[in-house]
Amino acid sequence: MNRSDTSNVLFSARLAATEREPWRQALREAAPEFKWWCVDDADLPRLSIAAAVVANPAPGALAGLPQLRLVQSLWAGVEKLLADSTLPPDVPLARMVDPVMSRAMAETAAWAVLALQRGFFTYASQQRAGEWRQHAQRRAGEIRVLVLGLGEMGRAVATRLLTQGYRVDAWRSGVAPAPALSGAAVYAGADALAGLLPAADVVVNLLPLTPATRGLLGADFFAALPAGASVVNLARGAHVVDVDLLAALDRGHLQHAVLDVFNLEPLPADHPYWRHPRVTVLPHVAALTDARSAAAVVAANLRALRDGLPLAHLVDRRRGY
Ligand code: NAP
Ligand code: GLV
Repeated sequence: MNRSDTSNVLFSARLAATEREPWRQALREAAPEFKWWCVDDADLPRLSIAAAVVANPAPGALAGLPQLRLVQSLWAGVEKLLADSTLPPDVPLARMVDPVMSRAMAETAAWAVLALQRGFFTYASQQRAGEWRQHAQRRAGEIRVLVLGLGEMGRAVATRLLTQGYRVDAWRSGVAPAPALSGAAVYAGADALAGLLPAADVVVNLLPLTPATRGLLGADFFAALPAGASVVNLARGAHVVDVDLLAALDRGHLQHAVLDVFNLEPLPADHPYWRHPRVTVLPHVAALTDARSAAAVVAANLRALRDGLPLAHLVDRRRGY
C-alpha cells in the first residue's frame, strides 16, 4: 500500500438526502482532483482511504480504514466525534473554521443582544396579547455583555458587539496565549468568571462542549447573575442545566433566554421551552456550515495533507476542542 497516496476521500454524513447531495456536489467541485467515496459505495476502497470528511457520521463509520490520516469535520463543534470510541486515536481531527460561519454567528448574537437591549422580545409577546405598552429605551453603552469563549466564534461575536457600542467582557480558558481584543476586557479561569457574572446584563455562550464546560450554566451560575439578566446560548444544549434555567426564568430572576441549541435535538414538542413566555427558541441555526465556502476550507486541508503541509484547525484531543 502506498502511504503517499491521498487521492481517496470518504464522505460520511448522516444528513437528509436533500442536504447530502448538495454537499457531495460542493465537495467534488471544490476538490475535483480527489476521488470521493460514500460509506454505502459497494466498491469503497477501505484499505486506501486517506481522509474522511464527516458530518455527524454513524458511530464506527471511521473504523477499519488503515490508511486514514485526516478526519475533517464539517461542523465546528466536535464533541460527538470525540465521544465515538471507534474514532482512530492517532489520526488528526480538524474542525470547521470558516469566516463565513463566524460572520453568521456574529449576526445571530448581534440580533439577540439588540432585541434584548431594546425589549423587542417583550414587544413580540405583547403583540400576541394585543397589548400596547412602552418600556424605557436602553442604550447599547448601558449593556454589559459577557461572551463565554473567545475562539473563532466568540471573537467574531465580541468584535461585532463592540462595533455596536456594547460593553464587552470575554472569558476564555487561557491555556494558551491569544491575541488581545481591542475594546474588550478579556479574562481567564474560574475565579475570573465568578467576578464577571454579577456585572453581566447579557451572557452569550460560545464555549465548546467539554467535560469542563458541560452544565456550567446551572443554578449557581444563574444565581450569580444580576436580577434581570438574560442568557443567549448559541453553543451546545448540554452547557445548560434546563431545570435550573427554567427555575431562574420562572422566579423572574432572569429576564429572557435565547436558545439555539438543546440537550435533545430536535427539541421535543412537549418541552417547556417551546411555550415559555421568556424563551426564544431557534432550531440550531445560529451559524450553519455554508457549503459554498466550507467546501473550499475542506479542499485546502485535503491539499495540505497531499502536499505534506501543516493541517489547519486541528483539535487538541486532550483539551477536547
Ligand atoms: P474555539 O475556536 O475552539 O474556541 C473555544 C473558546 O472557548 C476558546 O476561547 C477557549 O479558550 C474557550 N474555552 C474552552 N474551554 C474553556 C473553559 N473550560 N473555560 C473557559 N473557556 C474555555 O471554538 P469556536 O469555533 O469558537 O466554537 C465554539 C462552539 O460554538 C463550538 O464548539 C460549537 O459547540 C458552537 N457552535 C455552534 C453553532 C451553532 O450554529 N449553534 C455553530 C458553530 C459552533 P482558549 O482561548 O483559552 O483556548
Ligand atoms: C454547529 O453547531 C457546529 O458545531 O458547526
